[in-house]
Amino acid sequence: MNKKDKRKLVDSYKGWWHSIKLGDGIISKGRIPTHEHVKCWKIPEDYFNGKTVLDIGAWDGFYSFHAEALGAKSVTAIDKVIWGMSEKNISSKKGFDIAKKCLNSNVSGILMDLMDATPKNLGKFDVILCAGVLYHLEHPYLALSIIKNLLNDHGKLLIESHCDTTIDTDKPVMVYYPNDELAGDISNWWGPNPKCLLMMLEKTGFTVTKYFEDYTNLSRFIFYCEVP
Ligand SMILES: C[S@@+](CC[C@H](N)C(=O)[O-])C[C@H]1O[C@@H](n2cnc3c(N)ncnc32)[C@H](O)[C@@H]1O
Repeated sequence: MNKKDKRKLVDSYKGWWHSIKLGDGIISKGRIPTHEHVKCWKIPEDYFNGKTVLDIGAWDGFYSFHAEALGAKSVTAIDKVIWGMSEKNISSKKGFDIAKKCLNSNVSGILMDLMDATPKNLGKFDVILCAGVLYHLEHPYLALSIIKNLLNDHGKLLIESHCDTTIDTDKPVMVYYPNDELAGDISNWWGPNPKCLLMMLEKTGFTVTKYFEDYTNLSRFIFYCEVP
């Protein structure tokens, strides 16, 4: 594809969520500065290298393509809500498909609800990325078990999530958002405090090797986990 056609294709989609470098100096006009964010996750250089990777809730696929660029053996991306929308909506799977084409990528994009994912219908993976998804789920604790079942022995899970830091307690608690209390978004359900998410991960059978609050001052946390 020549640069002019690529520019036209990228500009034909107005719903970009991720800023993705698509070659020829073209960057999608995402609503979040993805390149800046990912730097602060401190992902080790060899984290994806040679691994089979699953990106849950991929949206435009920035993190899927990032894992591919860092040498992943294969990358599977799944998404339900945004990819379930028709192209008449501002956001849809169109951004992912355009980015995949521009990057000549082999990432496989599957419309699937995480809650329906099993080793039988999706396979098992060495590394799973679950960014910005957990608090959108009605059953986040169950989701952690589903994710664990999708990991190979000694597999790794990288979670990026909102955690609620507004409650003054030492206890592991999770805040329920029945309406649009979190960011005015009715699709947000739960805000575990960091201790609660840490303990849910450990009780699910993960070893949390490190976790930290990220850069945005928006109560976003990164958890690096492994299946022992
Ligand atoms: C806040 S966005 C995060 C997008 C991307 N992972 C990131 O970190 O920038 C949440 C994404 O999760 C997807 N999603 C929400 N619930 C899901 C589910 N049950 N199964 C799969 N994807 C889901 C949404 O469609 C959306 O693309």
